[in-house]
Amino acid sequence: MTEAELKSHIRGIPDFPKPGILFYDISTLLRHGPAWKEATSQLAERVAAHKPDVLAGIESRGFLLAAPMALALGLGFVMLRKRGKLPGGTVGLDYNLEYGTDRIEIQEDAVQPGQRVVLLDDLLATGGTMAAGVALLRKVGAVVPATAVMIELTFLKGRERLDLPVEALVAYDD
Ligand code: PRP
Ligand code: MG
Repeated sequence: MTEAELKSHIRGIPDFPKPGILFYDISTLLRHGPAWKEATSQLAERVAAHKPDVLAGIESRGFLLAAPMALALGLGFVMLRKRGKLPGGTVGLDYNLEYGTDRIEIQEDAVQPGQRVVLLDDLLATGGTMAAGVALLRKVGAVVPATAVMIELTFLKGRERLDLPVEALVAYDD
């Protein structure tokens, strides 16, 4: 499936969540079985090249890609969740949003020091979420060889905030 064919399964919804924002919605791709399978298997192939021991996903839409990709590659899957959602001992990281701050957390024993963890999310916009996720994984001792997303909004230059490779299946430049 070409990038154009994948894009035909992703819709842009104007003025969501705020006026002036064009929201790229993967719901239409996820509800189409063959497209979802093709997208995850194409991205999984690129992720596998980074030789991960485990895949991590960022709540919530990152889970929709990371879990099936980990299963397809025969790897474990680790959750990075928003504050207060994970039971037991956790390690967290606060990060800045456009307005205010947010916090992501991981279970303290989720990753062994030195394990290679590729971090997945559905979409790279400003890169703030992904940068926080990478920093959190490193804080618990993971080696992060790469990150991967279904969609990259190249005009927001999120990639420039990251010091590691980003695998992206489709890119939008406006
Ligand atoms: C969206 C998207 C990414 C993040 C990208 O998540 O799924 O995780 O924003 O933005 P950034 O690159 O500017 O940080 P959102 O916070 O809307 O939550 P959701 O995944 O739970 O829907
Ligand atoms: Mg998200």
